[in-house]
Amino acid sequence: MECLHIEGGVRLAGEVICSGAKNAALPILCAALLTDEPVTLHNVPQLRDVDTLLRLLTQMGVSVERTGSTVTLCARAITHPVAPYELVKTMRASILVLGPLTARLGEARVSLPGGCAIGARPVDQHIKGLTALGAEVRVEHGDVHAQARRLRGTRIVFDMITVTGTENLLMAAALAEGVTVLENAAREPEVQDLAQLLVAMGARIEGIGSDTLVVHGVSRLHGAEYRVMSDRIEAGTYLCAGAITGGDVRVRRAPTAALDAVLLKLQEAGCEVTRGEEWVRVAAPARLRAVDIRTSPYPGFPTDMQAQFMALDTVAEGRAMIRETIFENRFMHAVELQRLGADIHIDGATAIVTGVPRLEGARVMATDLRASAGLVLAGLVAEGETVVDRIYHLDRGYERMEEKLAALGARIRRGRSDAELP
Ligand code: EPZ
Repeated sequence: MECLHIEGGVRLAGEVICSGAKNAALPILCAALLTDEPVTLHNVPQLRDVDTLLRLLTQMGVSVERTGSTVTLCARAITHPVAPYELVKTMRASILVLGPLTARLGEARVSLPGGCAIGARPVDQHIKGLTALGAEVRVEHGDVHAQARRLRGTRIVFDMITVTGTENLLMAAALAEGVTVLENAAREPEVQDLAQLLVAMGARIEGIGSDTLVVHGVSRLHGAEYRVMSDRIEAGTYLCAGAITGGDVRVRRAPTAALDAVLLKLQEAGCEVTRGEEWVRVAAPARLRAVDIRTSPYPGFPTDMQAQFMALDTVAEGRAMIRETIFENRFMHAVELQRLGADIHIDGATAIVTGVPRLEGARVMATDLRASAGLVLAGLVAEGETVVDRIYHLDRGYERMEEKLAALGARIRRGRSDAELP
């Protein structure tokens, strides 16, 4: 199994280029299912999750051509509208084919994603919404089986804000007959990016960026060429890498307008934050101030940055309270951070972090994508060597992280953990 070896204590400085957003690229790639014409996408990040989704789409019969970060898909001949368990269990976002397949083909069979490390992550809202649009949805033998002659527009109110739930139903509504109103919809920038792609394909959507989306269904959508937005979580992660090491890091091609909540917290922690049209720079003090975090849907503080800020707080001056309101089990990085000497007390959905003067390098294990990022950040500042194991989690959402960190001065290399076993 692959791991990262990190020699901590280096102050990071320099600039790094942000890649395309994983959580925008995944729904946008699925949107290609909505038309029989080619869809060309630029700035698609080269990540394990994208590879998995392209494999899934290919086995459905979608033609896929990929050159670097440009992907052209054509779903003219979908022969197999099925998302099997083997693929879905490795990437829950596969559920995003459910809406487009049902709307375009009138049929879909998608394996229930099941839970994951950070929580149960049900898809009841996806099913409720598709049913409301007139699909016959049955859950049988672990699969969601949806059928519909043609979806009919309706009014849907989400019980809670769900990013992929909003995305699935937005794609389905685009081809439904009549008007669909999605209330209590997610406002995440990645949802907005998907909506803009759908508009480029001929969809009629009002309220983009708000919590109420009004979709006037059309009979067909055409191909398009579109550039995926930059990844705000990747950008935030590298800015935190500069911050935790007392460094000075600029992230270029960053989605600056989508980073307000994160940048305000970095300023609160004592960093000097400057930004331009498409770049953000963070210059950090020798030691940060501890900052309280409460995750919430956009435009609040993103849950995908919670682990990274917990790492910052472990070596900051003072004590912080971190409250995770989105997922029920998203503190697994805490016990690994404690192996590095962090002082963290977990009480349900709240973590109390008391800053310590220093962390000490140790072997730690990644459990999920963003937890891995938090552990890497802690390793950058811990004394001695930190080995982060099971970094396949990291590769799901970060393009060549060790190369980007090394370009900022980090002493980091990829290795194999099983190779060192006696
Ligand atoms: C998306 O997951 C992201 N993934 C997650 O990023 C992100 O953490 C999350 O949104 C929150 O921002 C992608 O976009 C591919 P939700 P998603 O549906 O859509 C509950 C990463 O690290 N819920 O917004 O699965 C759910 O259990 C990943 O890149 C239901 O109860 O999250 C959770 O508590 C991790 N029923 C809350 O809502 C449903 O039908 C928010 O989940 C749907 C969701």
